[in-house]
Amino acid sequence: MEVFEAIQTLLAVREYKDQAIPRESVTRILEAGRLTGSSRNRQDWAFIAVTERATLRRLGELASTGPYIAQAALAIAVVVPESPVGYIDGARAVQDMMLAAWEMGIGSNWVGNVNTPAIKELLNVPSERMILTIVPFGYPTRKLGKGIKQRKALAEVAHQERFGQPYTG
Ligand SMILES: Cc1cc2nc3c(=O)[nH]c(=O)nc-3n(C[C@H](O)[C@H](O)[C@H](O)COP(=O)(O)O)c2cc1C
Repeated sequence: MEVFEAIQTLLAVREYKDQAIPRESVTRILEAGRLTGSSRNRQDWAFIAVTERATLRRLGELASTGPYIAQAALAIAVVVPESPVGYIDGARAVQDMMLAAWEMGIGSNWVGNVNTPAIKELLNVPSERMILTIVPFGYPTRKLGKGIKQRKALAEVAHQERFGQPYTG
């Protein structure tokens, strides 16, 4: 899959088949995170790969905006320093992991609001670190493809030379 096609078709996937993700694919997703560039190449992140069903179920209970983590085959918690650079570096790694997974037919989504004491305790995350997101992964139950993304038109978000001047292509 071409990079641009992956970007064109990637969607938030919240329903997953009851199908395990091969270990090599899990490793490849984690590799995509590891290989991401970070500010000053600090790589100050940790990716916790969760595949145990009991933990996934518990995460689904604790994540107020991501109960569907319970059905995922894999969830990766992204742990970063609680700072703007931490958020930016972590978000870049997440996008690379999501795209690498998508190329293998694996859907995912960003679940926020997970930096809670209960989730940190469950995953043994040190108190001074932040769980930026937990990303559940799994094979989508429905076929997803081009043309169903709902996004603003390019003219609404792209400007020419300076803010407010429409980009005309
Ligand atoms: C920073 C951020 C936080 C998000 N938090 C959640 C969340 O807590 N739960 C959820 O189901 N989706 C969450 N999403 C997913 C967005 O709802 C999704 O990316 C957006 O609606 C576009 O979806 P689409 O690509 O399927 O069109 C989050 C996305 C981002 C980038």
